[in-house]
Amino acid sequence: MGKMIGYCVAGLGVGKNHVRGVLNSDHGKLIALCDLLPEKMDMVEKTVIAKDIEAHPEHKEHLADNLLKYTDFDEMLKNPEIECVSVALPSGLHAKYAIKAMEAGKNVLIEKPMDITVEAAQSIIDAWKRTGVKVGVMHQNRNNLDMAPMKKAIDEGHIGKVFLGTFEVKWYRPQSYFEKDGGWRGTWEMDGGGSLMNQGVHTVDLMQWLMGDVESVTSTMQICGHDIETEDMTASLIKFKSGAVATFVSTTCAYEAGCGTGIKVYGTGGTIECDQGEILTWKIHSTVDDPEIAKAVEAAEEAAMKAKYSVGGSAASDPALSTGHGSVVNNLINAVYNDTDPMICPPEGIKAVKIVNAVYESARTGKTVYLD
Ligand SMILES: NC(=O)c1ccc[n+]([C@@H]2O[C@H](COP(=O)([O-])OP(=O)(O)OC[C@H]3O[C@@H](n4cnc5c(N)ncnc54)[C@H](O)[C@@H]3O)[C@@H](O)[C@H]2O)c1
Repeated sequence: MGKMIGYCVAGLGVGKNHVRGVLNSDHGKLIALCDLLPEKMDMVEKTVIAKDIEAHPEHKEHLADNLLKYTDFDEMLKNPEIECVSVALPSGLHAKYAIKAMEAGKNVLIEKPMDITVEAAQSIIDAWKRTGVKVGVMHQNRNNLDMAPMKKAIDEGHIGKVFLGTFEVKWYRPQSYFEKDGGWRGTWEMDGGGSLMNQGVHTVDLMQWLMGDVESVTSTMQICGHDIETEDMTASLIKFKSGAVATFVSTTCAYEAGCGTGIKVYGTGGTIECDQGEILTWKIHSTVDDPEIAKAVEAAEEAAMKAKYSVGGSAASDPALSTGHGSVVNNLINAVYNDTDPMICPPEGIKAVKIVNAVYESARTGKTVYLD
């Protein structure tokens, strides 16, 4: 197997998925966990890690014999065996901790959003340039199985000139969601927003990735169904530098609607509509004879079919390393191992942060906001 890349996951909420990703990676070794709460680290060791190893005994070689647990991030950074750190802390802390890690010479994987303000996200880019370490951003939905054929079909012009997109993140979160874990969610200071900055940011990233640079946003936002300080509903008209237009809505008030995420793009030569990882419409009126696209469409359709008949399945991902959090963790580890660039570097990560903040500015001022 050769050299293994020592890894620490900091923040053990969604960080649990990073832990699984390291255990399932090609070249990673989980050396340490880091969280302010020792009980969370114990729980992850006894449940997440123990279950993973029980189900996949071959993952044992990706786990240190003596797993270290740090309650102090700075102390953790002193360990020279740790080469990569996942920063899966509340969103408003990302820049502060990611920069500390970079300056300690660690390679870093930052949860979405890269940070909550454009200034903080820019400070990550500056530190990344200064330190020369590898930095990836967790926008794992780019690896969803429906996105590969969609991206390829758009980029290669198979749907003609793209003129319209509709993007919908209609989720439900009960009030208790905002009150747990110290109540950082739904606050401007730590979450940087609500349904758009937290839940919708993945789809904002996909929107600009699929449709290109945004020129302007005209938006409104409201608090509809929660006792929180940020929004729980946004609606925007987005204009792109290409001349195309999109609508984008996000909410966490769509009662018991699950996690409906509509990503629909219309071109002069075709229509592609996806929802929750499933391709609903694939109509291209020029004949596309691209075996790679055909194969990708087939894989997405197969995964969607499997998900329909499995309990708790998601059409967007499969358990393999190619999708989900694990795919991005593995990508960072492989970037370090092979000395290549991670799939989403900081200059890509800041794009969604800029768009979300422009939406909030437009909603606050009632004016169209232009991006540079
Ligand atoms: N990519 C995704 O699909 C996805 C999903 C959920 C959350 N997230 C993102 O992940 C981040 C964390 O969200 P979460 O839901 O896991 O939150 P959480 O509150 O469940 O977990 C955060 C953890 O960080 C720990 N922590 C806080 N400050 C710390 C510090 N200084 N040092 C060490 N540990 C510290 C807390 O004790 C907590 O266990 C957020 O930025 C969120 O937007 C991403």
